Amino acid sequence: TLQLTLAIFKPDIVSHPHIVHQVKNMIHKSGFLFIRSKRMHLTRARVQDFYKEHEGRFFYNRLVSFMSSGPISTHILARENAIAEWRKLMGPTKVFKTIHDEPESIRGRFGLTDTRNSTHGSDADETAKREIHFFFPEFDIEDWYSEC
Ligand code: CMP
Repeated sequence: TLQLTLAIFKPDIVSHPHIVHQVKNMIHKSGFLFIRSKRMHLTRARVQDFYKEHEGRFFYNRLVSFMSSGPISTHILARENAIAEWRKLMGPTKVFKTIHDEPESIRGRFGLTDTRNSTHGSDADETAKREIHFFFPEFDIEDWYSEC
């Protein structure tokens, strides 16, 4: 059965269309479907809201500055086991370790730093629902699941 997850292409790759192109190819090759896509430029307040569980962490301010520094694109992806599979394709958060451990992953190939790590993915079913709703409030998740 298909599962939905939320993917974000962060400003560090959105400013490089050839990298976005390669990332999309990797996503297609891994068997994901793109259900909805949107490009946007978030305000600091919107980013703070999105990442509110990280408030107070040492990297929070730089994360908020980075994510509001330029356009992002957000995507609802579908696949069997989409949440775990998208996280596997991205590779671990910390880029310098990932470059050694998972060099073929998205972050291994394109990540620049622990903050500018190219992509984001939901970490669990409830988070995916919250994050999809955050960017696609008009998308009816329950209706989508009941149709497939
Ligand atoms: P993301 O998966 O979007 O979730 C939180 C983000 O915080 C993470 O990717 C990084 O962009 C950023 N971040 C920066 N430094 C760290 C760190 N040391 N640990 C975790 N996340 C970090």
